[in-house]
Amino acid sequence: MSGPAIEAVGLVKEFEKGRRTLLQRLRREPDRRERFRAVDGIDLHVERGEIFGVLGPNGAGKTTTMRMLATLLEPTAGTARVLGLDVVREARDIRRRMGAVLSDGRSLYWKLTARENLEYFAALYHVPPGETRARITEALETVRLDDRADDYVERYSAGMRQRLVLARALLPDPELLLLDEPTVGLDPQSARDLRDRVVALRARGRTVLLTTHYMEEADQLCDRIAIVDHGRVVALDTPAGLKRTITATEVVRLEIGTPQVDGSDKALLDRLGRRGDVKHAARENGSLAVTIHTPSARDFVPAAFDAAREAGASINHVEVVPVTLEDVFLSLTGRALRE
Ligand SMILES: Nc1ncnc2c1ncn2[C@@H]1O[C@H](COP(=O)(O)OP(=O)(O)O)[C@@H](O)[C@H]1O
Ligand SMILES: [Mg+2]
Repeated sequence: MSGPAIEAVGLVKEFEKGRRTLLQRLRREPDRRERFRAVDGIDLHVERGEIFGVLGPNGAGKTTTMRMLATLLEPTAGTARVLGLDVVREARDIRRRMGAVLSDGRSLYWKLTARENLEYFAALYHVPPGETRARITEALETVRLDDRADDYVERYSAGMRQRLVLARALLPDPELLLLDEPTVGLDPQSARDLRDRVVALRARGRTVLLTTHYMEEADQLCDRIAIVDHGRVVALDTPAGLKRTITATEVVRLEIGTPQVDGSDKALLDRLGRRGDVKHAARENGSLAVTIHTPSARDFVPAAFDAAREAGASINHVEVVPVTLEDVFLSLTGRALRE
């Protein structure tokens, strides 16, 4: 089938702030809560066969966007077509053809084996009975759990459970997979393993839309990335393309040994700020870690040593580092991705 895997135009989701108390509900008081936009007009165009990433900090609206595309939440405004079908009017057809792993859909039956879990979900998803065995075998092989298929899930590690949830989403052999923060809570090895499985799916022509707040993950895995912040797309390109937007910049990281007395950090950062663009500063293990964007590290670094000396501090470590997506995010929003 042709056409994009996902086409979203002006997607909006509004929620009410806070919650209504039971008393307010019992008294049938009118709902006077303020509304806010968790998703504030997102456009997305995902091609078939692509691994597309939505990268943004906590609260940016990633999960809400995924839930709308997975037809679990109706948009307040805007339209979205998934596999050519409308998320509101053709939700049932979409659900039949798409696999989704969302944060609230990760439950498994711990007292059953992996295979029994998949048998149960295959029935639930209306996988044709004649195909169930083959599909389960294939899904287990894809996530490399075939040798542990008959163990109880309660004995599985977090990484194995996550892969089993992915296997579950693969049962209907979907053209499109939505994965919401697929590697959160996994150890590095399991996370790498899961990313390998996602790449293998692309090799088989599947489309993957995933969210993450790990910039390394987005960088390694995704063909294209939409950086979202406060419910909006603030940049959209290939990882290399995003990093190119700030190539006129060098990124310097300093570790400054300086006692933390009232206002001293600010005074030091003010001095540094006159010589370069201070993007981020945080106290780490007794020293002050500072990220600076500058057109020339060669000119900036000696000036930074002068600035530190004037402020009675000493620079313990200097590093000129390659541009990362974190820096792209910093330069777009003025904030760090993981705050
Ligand atoms: N059901 C809901 N009701 C009210 N507010 C919500 C609901 N779901 C999410 N939010 C709010 O919407 C914003 C975006 O949340 P979310 O989409 O989960 O962000 P992300 O996945 O990027 O961390 C947050 O401020 C969150 O608290
Ligand atoms: Mg989320």
